[in-house]
Amino acid sequence: MLAAARRAQRRAHAPYSGFRVGCAIEAADGEVFTGCNVENASYGLTICAERAAACAAVVAGQRQFRRVVVVTSATTPTPPCGACRQFLAEFGTRVRVESVSAGGRRAWSLARLLPYGFGREHL
Ligand code: THU
Repeated sequence: MLAAARRAQRRAHAPYSGFRVGCAIEAADGEVFTGCNVENASYGLTICAERAAACAAVVAGQRQFRRVVVVTSATTPTPPCGACRQFLAEFGTRVRVESVSAGGRRAWSLARLLPYGFGREHL
């Protein structure tokens, strides 16, 4: 998973922030999907690595995730942004989210990262 996330990180399109992010998502059956951040000259259109990986998984027919591994070169492990937490929660909050940076590693459950998220039960 870590190697896959690092490979994706190398593909990041981050000419504006210079902050390259790679993500690997392990689906329930063990298949792994990756994503990187894809920035845009219209900054707000940027897609984070986590959402890119989740979309790749869904395109392949996967909607149950076991593990999300995020890789950056930051000095401390970076948790997913709020938008990505909400996006991932669509597919369940029991997933384990791991973040690996130059300065270490941290892990959380998505449920802990996103208490009181908006879900289909609120529609
Ligand atoms: N970014 C991600 O890809 N994932 C995150 O969880 C946080 C931020 C990207 C978005 C942008 O391209 C760059 O990192 C700086 O915010």
